[in-house]
Amino acid sequence: MPSTSGFVLLASLFLATTAQYSATYLPSNAPPTTEEGQVGTNQCGTALNQTSMCQNAYINSLTDFCIWAPPNPGPDSVIGNTERIEVAWCLKNGTGARLIPDGAITGAHFVQTPDYVQVTGTGDLTLLNIPAGDAGGELDPHGADGNGNPIGGLVFSTAFGPIQQIFEWTNFVAANQFCFRACKPGPNAAALCEHIYDIMGCAWNMPGNYDTGFDTCKGDSGEPMGVYGASTFHQGDAVTPPAHPAPSSSSCVTTSTIGNGFHISGTSISTPAAVVTPTSGAASGSGATPKPSATSSTSHASASGTSSGASRTLSTDNWERAVITVGSAVILSIIGGLLVL
Ligand SMILES: *[C@@H]1O[C@H](CO)[C@@H](O)[C@H](O)[C@H]1NC(C)=O
Ligand SMILES: *[C@@H]1O[C@H](CO)[C@@H](O)[C@H](O)[C@H]1NC(C)=O
Repeated sequence: MPSTSGFVLLASLFLATTAQYSATYLPSNAPPTTEEGQVGTNQCGTALNQTSMCQNAYINSLTDFCIWAPPNPGPDSVIGNTERIEVAWCLKNGTGARLIPDGAITGAHFVQTPDYVQVTGTGDLTLLNIPAGDAGGELDPHGADGNGNPIGGLVFSTAFGPIQQIFEWTNFVAANQFCFRACKPGPNAAALCEHIYDIMGCAWNMPGNYDTGFDTCKGDSGEPMGVYGASTFHQGDAVTPPAHPAPSSSSCVTTSTIGNGFHISGTSISTPAAVVTPTSGAASGSGATPKPSATSSTSHASASGTSSGASRTLSTDNWERAVITVGSAVILSIIGGLLVL
């Protein structure tokens, strides 16, 4: 008879269903676009094309990762203005995305943990159309309206076995710094790739190595961003906790270059990355304090009071969660009720 076990079964089925993503793609079978309002494409081909609108990103290894960055150059292309339309810029040729030119990345540190892969680093990302001085912003698959930032952006990885779609990921990018974490699909993915701390920057969200130079390490997963034992910090809380310590790493292999032989004509690559003064957002060195940036009129970093996009995003996320939670509870009660009848 319908009973607790029936109820639990149905409840788990329901929860399993709601936790599922609408679709699982591979680069080979993705449709032209995957979300409403997408400006680019998920059918990228393999040709090298520096005006490509490819929105498939890979995070496979130290020499095979991508960063989301603007499709067009110009002062208005700060990440905060372009988060919905970023395109993939990749180190490896053959993805159909734009190639990151040699010299753009001056530091990259790839870490493989049981739960995620992550690359943190530094460089002159103005070569990827990010305006000089842009403190940047955060990209993730959960925009305020449920679409990703960028809309339709897909992330894939071979880090956990055969190539698969990564559903939980977060990428901060600024004119001089980046960090990208892709979580292995599973129960820890959402927490370890939490995306709600979008003004806290790389150092706070992904404590790690941001020095120049290149290496790949194994590492511990560390603690989820924002979670401190039993308490969870929320952006805007009175007290901002310090970043977690960087998880320990081991078996590091250092590489002298991650160059791919691609040079932009007219671009000098002999000068290392332009030193853009770290301000806030992704570029924040201290990371612990969310300082709104003057340079990025970003929806993430706008000053408080003026209908901050950050709090809008945050409250929308919470609102969505609340609706899902309440909705689940209602449906579960109905199912439970029916079963008892
Ligand atoms: C490069 O990509 C752009 C944008 O998708 C497209 O319009 C153009 O035809 C591509 N060029 C080549 C040579 O494939
Ligand atoms: C990228 O690959 C294409 C073939 O798909 C080749 O024609 C081109 O020379 C390669 N470019 C670089 C910079 O490796």
